[in-house]
Amino acid sequence: MNNKEFTRRRKQLMQMVGEGGIAILPAAPIRSRSRDVEYRFRQDSDFYYLTGFAEPDAVAVLAPGRDSGEYLLFCRDRDELKERWDGKRYGPAGAISDFGADDAFPIDDIDDILPGIMEPCSRVYYTMGQYAEFDTRMADWVNSLRAHLSQGTHTPQEFVALDHLLHDMRLFKSRSEISAMRKAAKISAKAHQRAMQVTRPGMFEYEVEAEFIHEFRRHNAGNAYSPIVGAGANACTLHYVDNNAQLEDGDLLLIDAGCELDYYASDITRTFPVNGRFSPEQRAVYEIVLEAQLAAIEKTRKGNHWDEPHDAAVKVITKGLKKIGLLEGSLPKLIKDGACKKYFIHRTGHWLGMDVHDVGDYKVGDEWRLLEAGMVTTVEPGIYIPASRKIPKRWHNIGVRIEDDVAVTSNGPDVLSKSLVKDPDDIEALMQR
Ligand code: GLY
Ligand code: MN
Ligand code: MN
Repeated sequence: MNNKEFTRRRKQLMQMVGEGGIAILPAAPIRSRSRDVEYRFRQDSDFYYLTGFAEPDAVAVLAPGRDSGEYLLFCRDRDELKERWDGKRYGPAGAISDFGADDAFPIDDIDDILPGIMEPCSRVYYTMGQYAEFDTRMADWVNSLRAHLSQGTHTPQEFVALDHLLHDMRLFKSRSEISAMRKAAKISAKAHQRAMQVTRPGMFEYEVEAEFIHEFRRHNAGNAYSPIVGAGANACTLHYVDNNAQLEDGDLLLIDAGCELDYYASDITRTFPVNGRFSPEQRAVYEIVLEAQLAAIEKTRKGNHWDEPHDAAVKVITKGLKKIGLLEGSLPKLIKDGACKKYFIHRTGHWLGMDVHDVGDYKVGDEWRLLEAGMVTTVEPGIYIPASRKIPKRWHNIGVRIEDDVAVTSNGPDVLSKSLVKDPDDIEALMQR
């Protein structure tokens, strides 16, 4: 993402915040993994969305109309010794020269500087409850202003939920965001294709997962979430992430894996037979899910409401399950009663963006939101049939999900992950190396 994009976002947010308002956003904290080992740092999505600044220990301040600078960044000072251990820091001078801050200060001086910047402001835009430690510091800064009320200082009169404004902005992706997401989806599609090509009975799920790590890192991408690589019965456990079982001849393998590239996520699922050939039952279930997915994508159109793709998937899946004998009764009643929930236990999609389950409201008041150009959603129906005495054995442990990433455009659905095969004949052909 180039600097112009970040500048544009800050401008847009500042217009909403208006003069007299101030928006304050902290960077993500460093998280400990075990003893003195830390997780690899990943910037907070809201903070990164507005700054493009990927260091921890930073606070961004937007104060529209402020004479001596509207965009301020507090960040770590340069430090030769620490940089020899942990790598480059930009420091306040770099925050100005490389990241477009109007002014920048060492983070260690924030207690002395920030309350004074807040003082003339009547509204503070801040996301409460995200980082408990930062909430306390915000309260301390406001209290330090209150303590001096008798000396004529002001305190802000209103606290406003910043996430409400920011997350609505993030829901609508710009052209460069869609292009970043398409790149991420292409890398993930390549990795899924590799997985289909290398998979053989006798391998372990983690060996297939390794193909994803290789393909993602080759492109400077990483996992957007923990990959799910589940064969046989494991395909029916929605959030299976152990990925340590052996692949049996005759199993289906469900893989839900997507990379994050340059802070944008992809989220793709494919299901295929470990031995390269769908059994008749696996194919029957697969074809229902595929038909449901295509029907849902077809409904991922500007002007339709959020739930229309899901409704379309539910109809196809219910009809299909009735046809193969796993549901019995009148079709309209089965649909009305949500009977397919027995096998299709999640919803058909979610917003996708900087976060895999991205921000943005799904309803406006009590009504489903209408789809608009620039929104990106996943479309991911599934059927999961765990072993059960009530179900004929030939259907046991068939778990199928097909998931693509779809941008809503003025010209209809744009499937960002379309380069990846999903027709069962194409999958079988790809697997016959
Ligand atoms: N990979 C998480 C999901 O599909 O929602
Ligand atoms: Mn998903
Ligand atoms: Mn997924």
